[in-house]
Amino acid sequence: SSLLQAFEPSVHRTCRVEDEYADVDWDNLGFGLMPTDYMYQMKCTENGTFERGQVRPYGNVELSPSAGVLNYGQGLFEGLKAHRKENGSLLLFRPDQNAIRMKVGADRMCMPAPSVEQFVDAVRETALANKRWVPPPGKGSLYMRPLLMGSGPVLGLAPAPEFTFLIYASPVRNYFKEGTAPLNLYIEDEFDRASRGGTGGVKSITNYAPVLKALARAKSRGFSDVLYLDSVVKNNLEEVSSCNIFVLKGNVLSTPATNGTILSGITRKSIIEISRDLGYQVEERAVPVEELMEAEEVFCTGTAVVVAPVGSVTSKDKRIEFKTGAQTACGRLYDILVGIQTGHIKDKYGWVVEI
Ligand code: COI
Repeated sequence: SSLLQAFEPSVHRTCRVEDEYADVDWDNLGFGLMPTDYMYQMKCTENGTFERGQVRPYGNVELSPSAGVLNYGQGLFEGLKAHRKENGSLLLFRPDQNAIRMKVGADRMCMPAPSVEQFVDAVRETALANKRWVPPPGKGSLYMRPLLMGSGPVLGLAPAPEFTFLIYASPVRNYFKEGTAPLNLYIEDEFDRASRGGTGGVKSITNYAPVLKALARAKSRGFSDVLYLDSVVKNNLEEVSSCNIFVLKGNVLSTPATNGTILSGITRKSIIEISRDLGYQVEERAVPVEELMEAEEVFCTGTAVVVAPVGSVTSKDKRIEFKTGAQTACGRLYDILVGIQTGHIKDKYGWVVEI
């Protein structure tokens, strides 16, 4: 017992330190990078297996100028959130799904991937190490950004000889500057997001820089984001630069099918399941742009954007408006999803991992 007493004060001290919050203005979080204390790093060499990773202080990473990721874009990213519960524990949302998606993407990009167990453990360790950066309940979440990249040197076009898995984190709240107000989307008519046979269906880093030009143009005209059409017939809805899209008419909720060009969003998948349980008929199929004319509601889903109402879609000079507000399917789906993610609604799906 004297041994216990000797340990007791430090145990208490550790608990208090862990429970402290970082010095952050929690009421004014957006989606900007706020570096936290730690990141996770794990390397993999030519034998194809990842060694034991470690949590280390957040900081710059050193790369060879000829790293595969810098020269040929051999890289993937993921995104997932940790919410703080009133009892102080943290809730992760379907981290196994991010792990699986990274494995699928890694195969497409000729990279080895961490196992699901390695990935989920790494997420868990990253969240716990940065616990003081997880916003208080109701003020946002800790966004974690797993990366997988060809970090070894190459000159000729080939997979890199070494791969690095990293996770960094940042406290966040609303993705759009609109907050939770309806989005105004602009239909892009020049650039495509993804093409048949390309990498649109996986979370390759190479899907994102090419949309910046269209995004900048739409933002300069006052729009929130860009809605892309398919690259073949240029008539079917694809997705928005940062999220998936749903269209509601009557009891039918439609979303573009994941046919290789659409990112298989984890929020997308979750909203499909919740909607079916609420009695909506959910259709994953090609959604022609004309269907927007008769749509009652349009909304976006994504880890960063959560479930975001779309107030209008503009194509050239034609603007179509949709129902928004509290009494919408979008509002109801948002409340249920966030309720599950924050522990306020019973998680009958087994999606939430409490740590
Ligand atoms: C996410 O929603 O987590 C994403 O990865 C989209 C990104 C453009 C913020």
